[in-house]
Formats: sequence, C-alpha cells, structure tokens
Amino acid sequence: MVIAIDGPAGSGKSTVARMVADKLGFYFLNTGSFYRAYTLSALDRGIDPLDREKVLENAQSIRLSVKDGAVCIDGKDEEARLHTPLVDRYASPVSADPRIREMVNETVRSIAKGLDIVTEGRDTTTVVFPDADYRFYFDASPEIRARRRMADQEGSDYEAVLAGIIERDRMDREKAVGALKIADGAFVIDTSLLTLNQVCEKVLNALQSPSA
Ligand code: DC
Repeated sequence: MVIAIDGPAGSGKSTVARMVADKLGFYFLNTGSFYRAYTLSALDRGIDPLDREKVLENAQSIRLSVKDGAVCIDGKDEEARLHTPLVDRYASPVSADPRIREMVNETVRSIAKGLDIVTEGRDTTTVVFPDADYRFYFDASPEIRARRRMADQEGSDYEAVLAGIIERDRMDREKAVGALKIADGAFVIDTSLLTLNQVCEKVLNALQSPSA
C-alpha cells in the first residue's frame, strides 16, 4: 500500500508521515532527501549546484540507496548532512531539472516496490505515485511555517525565514515538471492550527474512508 503526502516546506508532512508510518508499521520514504543527496554530493565535489550539466553528470556517477531509513551515497550514510543551510538553498534548483527528477522518481519507485510505504514530498501524489492508495495535501500559512522553522533554528531572524519560505514556495510551485500542486481528489489538511498529533489523527481517520 502507498500513502502519499505532498505540501510545502514546514507544513508538517515529514513529521506526520513518519508518525503515521510508525503507527502502521509502514516504511517511511522522504523523497526530498534524494534531491538533497544529489545536491550534497555536487557541493562535496566542488561542483556549482546551479550548473545543471555538471550536477547531472555527477548524479549519474553516484548511487543513492536507503539503509535503515537513512539515505546513502555510494553506500555511505549521509543522512546527517542533508539539512545544512547550503543544501536547503540549492536542493530546489537541483530538483528543477526534469532529468534529475526522473532519476529520483525511478529510485523511489524501485525502493517502494512490494513495500507498504508512507511517502512525502512535492509531487508524490501527482507524478511519483499518482495511483497511490491514499493521497494527502498538507498546507499551512507561510507565517505559521516560518514560526515553526524558527523554533528549529535558534537565533534566526523571522523576516528572513519568512522571505526564504515564500521564495521556496514560489520555486516549488513554478517548476516546469513536478511542481507542487493539489492532486485531484487528494484529502487536503490545513495544519496551521493543529498539533502534529491532531494531523496524524486526521490522516489515520481518513484511511478508514474510501474517498481519501
Ligand atoms: O522536502 P524537502 O525540503 O526535504 O525537499 C528538498 C527539496 O527538494 C525542496 O527544494 C523541494 C524539492 N522536492 C521536490 O522538488 N519534489 C519532491 N517530491 C520532494 C522535494
């Protein structure tokens, strides 16, 4: 079974997807981690992450896999290095290349084969798993998402964090391929005023209904 959740950064989908996966005993697959891994590898090798051809060439020369829930590059667990400010900043332009997207989609689908999974990202309900058994779209206001991000990053400036979120939303929504959008028939949850447990409850309740 595939449960897919899309939504903008900070909408709570990662944490809730993990909670739902834990509750159901499903495998959790974060698709953004693969874009982050290609970005990290390019940065590690001194490649300009905006140089599409070099980033692609590098991506084709490495192998991404998942071990115990952690993304590995050529077999090495790199999960802990996927969330630096530099990777945050460049994962979006890297993910805008349709050729990189196709590589990530193939990797994700092959990992998911035969498994019960909860997956999340920007296009898991529209492109990666359009036939997922259950599809969700999480949203929250940019201001709320900025406050959530502030809680994770000590000493950060609210206006700067908010501007960053608005800019990432724009890039995610304007991508030529794999843009963030609400899939037809997806179950939409506005997480702005909900706790993570309440969102998790809503997802679990929706799984009881055939229309999710
Ligand atoms: O969810 P995240 O912040 O870890 O995602 C990292 C980047 O990858 C982000 O810029 C959006 C992009 N992404 C995407 O384009 N498609 C996905 N399915 C998942 C993430």
